[in-house]
Amino acid sequence: MNSQCIVLILCLLVYQAYAVPAETKYLDASEFEKCPEDTNAAGDCIAKIINTLLPRLRHGDPELNIPAYDPFLIDKLSFQYSSGAVNGRISVRNVKLYGIVGIKIQKIDVKRNNNKIQLRIYSHQPKINILGDYKADMHVNQLQLKPKGKFNLTLFDVQSTVNTEGEIYTKDDGKRFLRLTDIEANPKIGDMIIKANGIFPDPELDEIALNVANNYWRDIYGIILPETRKSWVPLLLRLINQALLKVPIDEFTSRSD
Ligand SMILES: *[C@@H]1O[C@H](CO)[C@@H](O)[C@H](O)[C@H]1NC(C)=O
Repeated sequence: MNSQCIVLILCLLVYQAYAVPAETKYLDASEFEKCPEDTNAAGDCIAKIINTLLPRLRHGDPELNIPAYDPFLIDKLSFQYSSGAVNGRISVRNVKLYGIVGIKIQKIDVKRNNNKIQLRIYSHQPKINILGDYKADMHVNQLQLKPKGKFNLTLFDVQSTVNTEGEIYTKDDGKRFLRLTDIEANPKIGDMIIKANGIFPDPELDEIALNVANNYWRDIYGIILPETRKSWVPLLLRLINQALLKVPIDEFTSRSD
């Protein structure tokens, strides 16, 4: 064996030693009161933890692999839309969502059946602002529209009841975690301001269209929310589950047995 070969092997060994992943870092439970496992009392306790953590993690935590979420950035999202005379596709890009940090969890109802968990989460957000670029390809009756431009949506007083289902599972390191499998939300909005440009080539027509949209946003929202569920549910589940990977539930729970 020549010396070059030995050096190479040594290098590989050193590399191996450093490439061994460090122990995964989890959310530190030490400062929180342990939540009772009894489901009636657990809800309040979980709500308190989330309300404490949300503002603190707004700039993200690289060690926990949690990205900053104020603003929360969405690279691209597409919605297929089809109802009566209107159908088409809208895609949004470079979306910035402000306001997640203002969520207050008011109450959580917990139901548990062995490893299956159901949570009903009541929350309130005073204001959400969503900015970005949009592009659409729509058919309204015989008319084809291809609007493209910037949008700015502001939602006020968002009251949500979120129903989620999840399951408890055990990781290789023996710790137990929660993973959500479904989520359903039907937020009620106090008021909404819609701003956009590029709907029509003519700015005056834009103005008229926006006036209509701002007067009828309740109807528009009522149709669009369920229609777009397929687009935002997976995104939301992925986000929440990514955070839950860092929450070893037993460290936040006091066992009553
Ligand atoms: C978006 O619209 C809201 C509500 O009208 C306004 O307060 C805010 O300044 C706008 N943001 C931008 C970046 O234009």
